[in-house]
Amino acid sequence: MSDVAAPQDAPEPVLAIAIDGPAASGKGTLARRLARHYGLRHLDTGLTYRAVAARLLEEDLPLDDEATAEAAARTLDLGALDRARLAQHHIGEAASKVAVMPGVRRALVDKQRAFAAAPPGAVLDGRDIGTVVCPEAAVKLYVTASAEVRAVRRFREITDGGGAADYEAVLADIRRRDARDMGRADSPLRPAADAHLLDTSEMDIEAAFMAACRLIDAALAARSGT
Ligand code: DC
Repeated sequence: MSDVAAPQDAPEPVLAIAIDGPAASGKGTLARRLARHYGLRHLDTGLTYRAVAARLLEEDLPLDDEATAEAAARTLDLGALDRARLAQHHIGEAASKVAVMPGVRRALVDKQRAFAAAPPGAVLDGRDIGTVVCPEAAVKLYVTASAEVRAVRRFREITDGGGAADYEAVLADIRRRDARDMGRADSPLRPAADAHLLDTSEMDIEAAFMAACRLIDAALAARSGT
């Protein structure tokens, strides 16, 4: 009898796919579709920062006290993230403030890594997935689009949902968010050295999905030596 485990007995390797990019780049929609396509779990890590901010706002706690924010982050339950509620604009603004705090980031990164490590693996999207959360991810995509294109998409999202929006204000908001995400000292938004860049300025979601699948399939084939 061979003492080498038969291939069917070997545990499936846990597969992590890292998707980073600026606000309104379409990375969230893309990450959800990719997770479905590859049979993986999905975590929108932006929701974890939003949930911490929402908790502080709800409990009338200060947004600028790191110990309080870190305590909220440590007790966060990843299974209870309510996307619809957390999508609100004022929560996003508050989230980008708590996201600069190293204590909050450490607490959330621990939870995000545990999520990524559970079989069969996961697609995580955010700002620092390829650089900090999952530096060993099998595939890293950096999804971007010009600020103007992202502002048009965000504007349409709001107005299609029956809301009122001003394009110039949306654009200014996106630029402010970019500056905060890219300019912070801890884990700023930037492409990992080994990330594949995907500029979706001239792509719809279908084209972006196809382009992402091609990049991921090629990376997985190269990894398994086929
Ligand atoms: O992607 P979003 O708008 O839901 O993110 C909310 C805020 O959280 C945003 O300002 C960036 C921050 N964030 C982060 O710092 N790191 C992540 N991995 C995800 C989001």
